[in-house]
Amino acid sequence: MKKQSVFIETYGCQMNEYDSDRIINALQAEPVDSPNTADVIIINTCAIREKADHKAVSAVGRYNKLKKNNPNLIIGMSGCVAQLYGKKLLKDMPYLDFVMGPRGIPKIPKIIDDIRSEHKQRPLETSMDVQDIFDVTPYHKKGKISGFVSIQQGCNKKCAYCIVPTTRGSEINRPLDEIIFESQELVKQGAKELTYIGQTVNSWKHSKMRFNNLLDHLQEINGLERIRFTTSFPKDISDKMISSMKNNNKVCRQLHLPVQSGSNRVLREMRRTYSIEWYKDRIQKLKDAIPDLALSTDIIVGFGSEKEDDFESTMNLIREIEFDTVYSFKYSVRPGTPGENMESHVPDEIASEWLSVLQAEQKEITLKKNIEKIGSNFNVLLEGFSKQNNKDLFGRTTHNKVVNVKNVDQSFIGKTVRVKITNAMQNSLVGEII
Ligand code: 5AD
Repeated sequence: MKKQSVFIETYGCQMNEYDSDRIINALQAEPVDSPNTADVIIINTCAIREKADHKAVSAVGRYNKLKKNNPNLIIGMSGCVAQLYGKKLLKDMPYLDFVMGPRGIPKIPKIIDDIRSEHKQRPLETSMDVQDIFDVTPYHKKGKISGFVSIQQGCNKKCAYCIVPTTRGSEINRPLDEIIFESQELVKQGAKELTYIGQTVNSWKHSKMRFNNLLDHLQEINGLERIRFTTSFPKDISDKMISSMKNNNKVCRQLHLPVQSGSNRVLREMRRTYSIEWYKDRIQKLKDAIPDLALSTDIIVGFGSEKEDDFESTMNLIREIEFDTVYSFKYSVRPGTPGENMESHVPDEIASEWLSVLQAEQKEITLKKNIEKIGSNFNVLLEGFSKQNNKDLFGRTTHNKVVNVKNVDQSFIGKTVRVKITNAMQNSLVGEII
């Protein structure tokens, strides 16, 4: 029988990309790059900010037009917006065939069967009570150099602004043997670098093991050359984790550690459970252990009763730490979060102003740090053709910097080469093999 062709439009985080690949495997489907030839179209949505969830709803409307020429086309919504609004989506969009939250993925074959059955159901699958959450592994294109492995679903933190505990449920940690098995499978298919993902990845624990033990085990996987993980939670950076990172020759010299604010007052309102002193102490310990560690962070501006001096504290922090990359956002109120009922809020114009001040200054810091790399040599794992042209190859350094490498044959894809940096851009470097 011909495999059904599935087109998935993915919004949001790496977890969603991973889930999209799991949907493909669950359906034993052929992923296609164009919605025009698909039997099934799925919009895998993100609810983290209001803008993201609006995008998802308008995508469904857009794809509905394709049903004119293909009446058997199935259009479904998955992911966090699906979980959040559930039934309402089916009611508001009569042309939407199904709605499925992140924990429903193992059920997707049945969902599609139900729609194609004579009764033409419109399934709603938003149960949080799912035991087989890790049973479906992701589709991985043969020969793809980097891949993802989920080690955790959901989140137990209670950050006041965040919708994730509502949409993805509470934390479930995956057993070690499953993590290792999936990693080995990806390596067999050609992966050299794996990024281990979870909402607060370093809070992973299973049986008597903690995240540092997991890193030690992952190092033993034959053929796996590089290990990354995201997203870490500051409070869960233990001394043991730091020393395990330091002593592990596969763990990349890179850490994404969202701080959210540089002000203790705002951090308390956000219920982040750490102080800025704790955060800086962890960064110091990490840098003492791994001096060339590249750091990135997330920041929200305009949360709660943030004032000018709180914002100044955030600016001082980014000047002091000089992150390689900062992902910054204007606070967006999310339904059902503690933030929704907070009395004070920052006027939108002020939050926008703060965001652009922060982004402008960080842009300079990032560029300065990139320029400093000109003339230095790095190991670059080549992943494929450069996004800029079809001649050069691109890869990344251990610090997660993208490098476009000139004059290199495509047979080098998958190899780690020594590269001298010759030029620096805002978001990438240029280099030549030495
Ligand atoms: N508004 C704006 N940004 C948010 N984030 C999470 N929730 C919100 C929200 N309600 C940001 C945080 C998080 C990143 C993934 O998105 O910075 O780390």
